[in-house]
Amino acid sequence: MSVIGLTQQDKTGIAEIDRHHAALLEIAQRLHHACQSGGPEERVDALLKELIHSTRAHFEYEEALMQTHGFPDYLSHKAEHDELLARLACLRNALHDGCHPRFEDDMDASDDWILIHVREKDVPLGAFLLAKGVS
Ligand SMILES: [Fe+2]
Ligand SMILES: [Fe+2]
Repeated sequence: MSVIGLTQQDKTGIAEIDRHHAALLEIAQRLHHACQSGGPEERVDALLKELIHSTRAHFEYEEALMQTHGFPDYLSHKAEHDELLARLACLRNALHDGCHPRFEDDMDASDDWILIHVREKDVPLGAFLLAKGVS
């Protein structure tokens, strides 16, 4: 697993968003540990389901803030959220289809999405929101 945690440069400055990000990474780390240790499929599936649920709730939270404050990059930011959720759903479908070996590769390729999205999309959003007086 390549995700080792959020650094100071990954902080958005918006407390609730940063708290969500840390929680998502924690779930992703538990998921990877379950995959790498050959945990039972039910355990992996439960963690993936939890990651999808928490990610969707987090994205909805960010999207509501973007809309409330008129964030100009809303459409492309939301499109990336939608794509990321679709990728997570594909991983779960693959798991259900018995593609466990590929699942680990797919997760390795996709776990960075949390950090990449945070750095490229959420940090600029945080700067925008801070300027709007959100904390
Ligand atoms: Fe985020
Ligand atoms: Fe985001």
